[in-house]
Amino acid sequence: MDLEKPWGGRFTAPTNSFVEAFTASVNFDQRLYEYDIKGSIAHATMLAHVGVLTDIECQKIVDGLNEIEQEIADGTFNWLESLEDVHMNIETRLTQKIGVIGKKLHTGRSRNDQIATDIRLYLRDEIDIISQQLIRLITALVELAKCEANTIMPGFTHLQSAQPITFGHHLLAWCEMLMRDKQRLQDCQKRVNTMPLGAAALAGTSYPIDRDYTAKLLGFDAIAQNSLDAVSDRDFAIEFTSIASIIMMHLSRFSEELVLWSSAQFNFIELSDAFCTGSSIMPQKKNPDIPELVRGKTGRVYGHLTCLLTLMKSQPLAYNKDNQEDKEPLFDTVDTLKGSLRVYADMIPSLEVKRDNMRNAAKLGFTTATDLADYLVRKGVAFRDSHEIVGTAVRYCIDNNCELDSLNLETLQTFSPHINDDVYEVLTLEGSVSARNHIGGTAPNQVISAANRLAKLI
Ligand code: ARG
Repeated sequence: MDLEKPWGGRFTAPTNSFVEAFTASVNFDQRLYEYDIKGSIAHATMLAHVGVLTDIECQKIVDGLNEIEQEIADGTFNWLESLEDVHMNIETRLTQKIGVIGKKLHTGRSRNDQIATDIRLYLRDEIDIISQQLIRLITALVELAKCEANTIMPGFTHLQSAQPITFGHHLLAWCEMLMRDKQRLQDCQKRVNTMPLGAAALAGTSYPIDRDYTAKLLGFDAIAQNSLDAVSDRDFAIEFTSIASIIMMHLSRFSEELVLWSSAQFNFIELSDAFCTGSSIMPQKKNPDIPELVRGKTGRVYGHLTCLLTLMKSQPLAYNKDNQEDKEPLFDTVDTLKGSLRVYADMIPSLEVKRDNMRNAAKLGFTTATDLADYLVRKGVAFRDSHEIVGTAVRYCIDNNCELDSLNLETLQTFSPHINDDVYEVLTLEGSVSARNHIGGTAPNQVISAANRLAKLI
């Protein structure tokens, strides 16, 4: 069954069949149907409120749209590519159902302000869901951090052992990043939740519309103040995708660590079997697929950001068909981000922490050398001199294949007469981490208070 095109009046020849397929968006924008119907119901209600539609007409439209929503949800709705997009499919069906009154729905409206409204309603909901997912992941990390507040591991710079830290502290670094991501989303939500409806095609409409009324019905915080801007810009989608890119970048860094830590060489953690897969040829393999995939999917989201920026960059005001290309990258960004956050939040609680291995690794690489230098400073030695002294001691240990805390006092005193037997306290891993006892430091009690602070914030 083919149906007449709602815009067919000025045309004399039919659309080329490939052009019909090429220009159609219904295969992907049908995903917006709930928002499209919600927006149409609000628009019709407003038209009745200002007297452009009668109450009876409005009621017929609303009932018809509600029935269509049910048909779509039940899977009985017949989507037609020849009707191009979600809007014209629904509107045509409405007219089929309720007759000529259905044709009144589009009074004072254009698909241009309609689609801009649909995407914003969609994204507003998705941002709320993603924020909740971030909270779920942060909560899992905070819980783990509390359990691992006393677990010592090597902290790295340049991926070389640097100083001992607590694993809880390391985990809370991820929480801080994700908390900022959540704030970024909340901020973006303010701009997403602005209503374009009423801008019509580009210049506004000659009907006595009440945009505040429609905005209230749809739960928008604000209405777009310029009709040209309202129908054309997609900066809100770009902003969201840039935040999604930042979140994926954070998850990708995290993934990189999980991949490294679960290797035989680090052996700091074990990912649960439920989140790994094996090899079809090497029987011994257990691969960290989840972190690897999340790391890989980051590229796709960056790609969508580039796509949307490029899509927008050369468009003259106001609406251009180019904007139809905003949906697939946006939808895939949302899906990829939600999938990644979900799988991470599911995976983290089942992480097995190999505390002994972490601790043993922290002992290697002279990680308490800075503590020895600080010790000498407290004894009155200038920091640069103490740095030099400790460097010499480390060199001695490398040459003699031993650790700083295994040197006896006599040997240590050959490097500096300021060293006494109280030095061994600062050379221990526990002494080193507990000494960093200030806000933002790695000491176990700081980790507990930071975890509690975060738990209260979320
Ligand atoms: N499918 C279109 C889009 O996604 C809807 C708006 C079309 N407007 C138009 N004048 N062709 O942007």
